[in-house]
Amino acid sequence: MCGIVGYVGREEAAPILLEGLGRLEYRGYDSAGIAVCTGKQLSVHKAKGRLRILSDMLDGGRLVKGCVGVGHTRWATHGAPSDVNSHPQVSRSGKIAVVHNGIIENYAELKAFLQEQGVPFTSETDTEVVAQLVEYFYEDGKVDILEAVGRCLHRIEGAYALGILCADAPEQMIAVRKDSPLILGFGDGCSFLASDVTAILRHTRRVAYLDDGDTAVLTREGVQCYNYLMQPIEKTVSYVDWEIDAAEKGGYEHFMFKEIMEQPEALRRAVFPRIRDGEVVLEDLSLTNKYIRGLHKLYIVACGSSYHVGMVGKYNLERILRLPVEVALASEFRYMEPIVDEHTLVVVISQSGETLDTMAALREAKRLGAKILSIVNVVGSSIARESDEVLYTWAGPEIAVATTKAYTTQLAVLDLLGLYLSKILGTMDAAERRTVLDEMLLLPEKMEKILEKKEDIQYFASRYFNHNSVFFIGRNIDYALGLEGSLKLKEISYIHSEAYASGELKHGTISLIEEGTLVVALGTYGKLFDKAMSNIVEVKTRGGDVLALTTESRQEEMAKTANGVIAIPDAHPMLMPSLGVAPLQLFSYYVALMRGCDIDKPRNLAKSVTVE
Ligand code: AGP
Repeated sequence: MCGIVGYVGREEAAPILLEGLGRLEYRGYDSAGIAVCTGKQLSVHKAKGRLRILSDMLDGGRLVKGCVGVGHTRWATHGAPSDVNSHPQVSRSGKIAVVHNGIIENYAELKAFLQEQGVPFTSETDTEVVAQLVEYFYEDGKVDILEAVGRCLHRIEGAYALGILCADAPEQMIAVRKDSPLILGFGDGCSFLASDVTAILRHTRRVAYLDDGDTAVLTREGVQCYNYLMQPIEKTVSYVDWEIDAAEKGGYEHFMFKEIMEQPEALRRAVFPRIRDGEVVLEDLSLTNKYIRGLHKLYIVACGSSYHVGMVGKYNLERILRLPVEVALASEFRYMEPIVDEHTLVVVISQSGETLDTMAALREAKRLGAKILSIVNVVGSSIARESDEVLYTWAGPEIAVATTKAYTTQLAVLDLLGLYLSKILGTMDAAERRTVLDEMLLLPEKMEKILEKKEDIQYFASRYFNHNSVFFIGRNIDYALGLEGSLKLKEISYIHSEAYASGELKHGTISLIEEGTLVVALGTYGKLFDKAMSNIVEVKTRGGDVLALTTESRQEEMAKTANGVIAIPDAHPMLMPSLGVAPLQLFSYYVALMRGCDIDKPRNLAKSVTVE
């Protein structure tokens, strides 16, 4: 979603800001802008559309002079994408410029108040209210800019990460965080601000994460932070140890493809250190056996693909733990009066660790007394920091909007968690657990085998890429896998696609199957293979064109009925979705490629969804 980059130093700010914004493009945006302190004035430039438009307009930033500035990529919420609605938003005198991630919920009320005071508004954004309100408190000259910002914060409600410049204080920038991530970076003779560490990694690896309610004043000499009472505080400085290359394409045409191909390595990182002598070792956890034995249920809460991981988890974990496992969409969770208490372990899954719906669900679960264990990819992210326990997926930076390696590693970590708990609860046969763990160690190799055969999947994509509607069907874990396959296809190729539990077809959806309708039938779950076959026959009888996914051992049998078959190596049933997802990702990728779609940045989508 929206991205923020700020710089206070001795070099020209604009090229640094544009380069940093470029690294945030993957988050999804529809316009971009920068503001730079040029003498005692703010030089503000904005453009709807791709960052390249802004960059070309400013000759890569060389046309703007000044060493203090802030930049933004906007994903429209209040007001359509346009030059005027882009950030920075500027106060009426032009003295205050604000970039903002999040939503000011009471902006309408504040806007009405300011308009009554004669303040004219130029945009439809909620952000302009912040710029105008800061100026309203500042312009009487009785308070300095920091105090004016503090007064504004007392009035605004909602979620915000703010970067604020004031023409009268051209040597500094003010940053504020509430419910939207913001990171400080420390360089030699310079300071940085960013909503995502990738934006500043080229310049510094020393960072600090602002907490909710924190305000920071950035200067060349360093950063002074304050808590919500405006008392000075010290922030812990962390060192980012991953390479910037990990967030670059490295010769691949798309991040998504690179990240699909990185899955074997990501699985090695997520799984290998956590299996020792045939047992799961989760050194990062501090749950006691007493607490685990007292659990009444698990609640998995997440959005999108992370939710789909939870759906696989429901089948897998309920079976091996003999405990109810509920799965909820985070956006629904807090409004459904969930039955959660201190005997519920709430497992929160999020790649970014910043999804606002997921964060809100986490807080609600906490309020209800549950312990929170999160499965997160981004180290130091908000969800990780607010959880009682964190299991990192160690997938490395994921840039493409469509998640791939994060899904695979989340699933592996969730399976490991289930196996770990099953030992303490004594609910799973030890020999079976051992088999699953041994097979988990083989996942990377098996995944490599699947990826090596990518041309086969490319062939199927070429056969089906111009279909306009696709159904994914499957039972049990294959149904859960279908949800992810379907989402992947629709989000990057814009093909209408739906996933159904195969048994549900006859309750309505089968009426949509006609001559040539593409049905991707998932039949990797051996126990229900015969039932999967019956459903395929039902579809074929009605003219459906069936592309099936199954295991190598069932390939021949499947080929007798389906129009096309993709076969993946056999594995323990629990692990089939971890392998089965790879061909579905590749299928979506190639289909989107053949349809000429913007694969890494699909329309209307954002990598990190920080609005409700
Ligand atoms: C998946 O390809 C999507 N980009 C999306 O559904 C994503 O999984 C969802 O927004 C949740 O994000 P999170 O894992 O960062 O919380």
